[in-house]
Amino acid sequence: MTQLNHLLFKSEFGSPQNAGNVLSEGEAMKLLKEWVPNNRLQLHMKQVAAVMKSWALIKENTSEEIAYKWWLAGLLHDADWERYPDLHCQKIIEELENRNIDPEIIHCIASHGPRYFGIEPVNNMDKMIYVFDELSGLIHAAALIRPTGYEGMDAKSIKKKLKTPSFAAQVNRDDITDAISRTDNELDDIINFIIEHQKDIA
Ligand SMILES: [Fe+2]
Repeated sequence: MTQLNHLLFKSEFGSPQNAGNVLSEGEAMKLLKEWVPNNRLQLHMKQVAAVMKSWALIKENTSEEIAYKWWLAGLLHDADWERYPDLHCQKIIEELENRNIDPEIIHCIASHGPRYFGIEPVNNMDKMIYVFDELSGLIHAAALIRPTGYEGMDAKSIKKKLKTPSFAAQVNRDDITDAISRTDNELDDIINFIIEHQKDIA
């Protein structure tokens, strides 16, 4: 979710000396539960996290350690959305900076909505969170109204939904087009990847 204009007015996040520092899975889930009471938003964040991790491992051939950073950025990208709606995503950035977390994770979170936060995606982790965020939400919304959920869902039906402005109207189609144009990937492939890797996340 990337509504609201809240430019961050800075381009450096965290400190290079914290490279490699992460929250443990337990610490990350604790933060998620404390900051995000809304179960539906929690699920969105877990789904983006799962897709990010799978993409890193399968498409980028990263180590488990790097893939964990992709997962963590996905998991926490909307952490301050409910608690600090006027300060999304400034608050989660501050929290992770205070906890000395790897600057790449913080930059990735900061670049998940360039039009809203004013931060351009730089590396593939940044670019893919921007690609996945809105599309993941739209695909899940589509699953919720299908009698069989994710079962049998294909890219064609999702593309139809993308062309129907009234469906999941809060999902910004221009952001999706812009995000994909910054990568070498096809929309169909990305949709299929998201379906496959978020369908079992609960
Ligand atoms: Fe999001």
